[in-house]
Amino acid sequence: MKILGIETSCDETAAAVVEDGVRILSNQIASQVEIHARYGGIVPEVASRQHILAIIPIVEQAMAEPPGVSWDSLDGIAVTIGPGLAGSLLVGVNVAKSIALAHNLPLTGINHLEGHIYANWLSNCQPDFPLICLIVSGGHSDLVLMKGHGDYVVLGRTRDDAAGEAFDKAARILGLGYPGGPAIQEAAQNGTASLKLPRAWLKGSHDFSFSGVKTALLRSVEGGMVSLSTNQNSRLPTPSDAAASFQEAVIDVLVTKTVAAAKEYRVEQILLAGGVASNKLLRHWLVENSPIPVLVPEPVLCTDNAAMIAACGYYHFQAGKTDGLDLDVVPSLKLT
Ligand code: KG4
Ligand code: ZN
Repeated sequence: MKILGIETSCDETAAAVVEDGVRILSNQIASQVEIHARYGGIVPEVASRQHILAIIPIVEQAMAEPPGVSWDSLDGIAVTIGPGLAGSLLVGVNVAKSIALAHNLPLTGINHLEGHIYANWLSNCQPDFPLICLIVSGGHSDLVLMKGHGDYVVLGRTRDDAAGEAFDKAARILGLGYPGGPAIQEAAQNGTASLKLPRAWLKGSHDFSFSGVKTALLRSVEGGMVSLSTNQNSRLPTPSDAAASFQEAVIDVLVTKTVAAAKEYRVEQILLAGGVASNKLLRHWLVENSPIPVLVPEPVLCTDNAAMIAACGYYHFQAGKTDGLDLDVVPSLKLT
């Protein structure tokens, strides 16, 4: 079964063809990151205009790449309907509906977070249920228990900033640029975690909180406890040291709480998903500290892409979940 996936929830215009929910035949992504970097963050109006410019060429490239794939050989279309930016989502959903109508193909709407989880089905090993998935992206930090396909129980979520959002804000505080996650990771490679930063453990709950560590970083910078000058003789932590300290504080909480939940629910596997899952320290520490097998998609499948949407679409179609041409966007869609 060959599914065309379309993803336009934020600032990546993406289309992909995936076979049987596991084999990627094509995976095209047009990133707008350089455009939004000028503004230090995503500008929703600019994002939707860029999607309009990029979507048709990206779909055409995704369809042209795999040998033997034609409109006639497709079995369905999967498209992200939310959560995300309304104007951005509308571009993908309307293109998906037009293609479904023109080629008489079944259509299914996908929750972007569900799509992130299904990136794990695109790796060489297949996940085993029950499992716990940590979804860490720019908008979400959710700990999800999955007992089967499409069966989600959200055990915990962030009470304030998402992990990716915290990385983005910390990078801004340290003047490291946008997007913050990769910038913090790179700076941290040249630093040591010498700045003391707090961790919010929220004992007795599987929830997260990252606003405290971000505020502590801000106070340290404002209070002159981080050297922002290039003075080699300063004994204060450098921005690289502060980046390493921030990264360790966030990853420590994510890893410790995920492993604890996995043990409590006696799951077979831990999965990672979302843009922050491409963080090298998170991947390394989770594998090192978990007695339970960990599955992590390759970095390009952690950040936004359409292969994960197509993979998820396959399981929707298998379960008979199809949508009509009245399919609409749901910008604040929840996983459960
Ligand atoms: O899943 P994603 O591509 O888009 C959303 O659905 O939000 O995640 C984007 C987020 C951004 O906040 C970005 O800073 C973060 O993922 N991110 C990272 C890394 N790469 C991307 N955070 C930490 N380390 C990384 N290497
Ligand atoms: Zn995402």
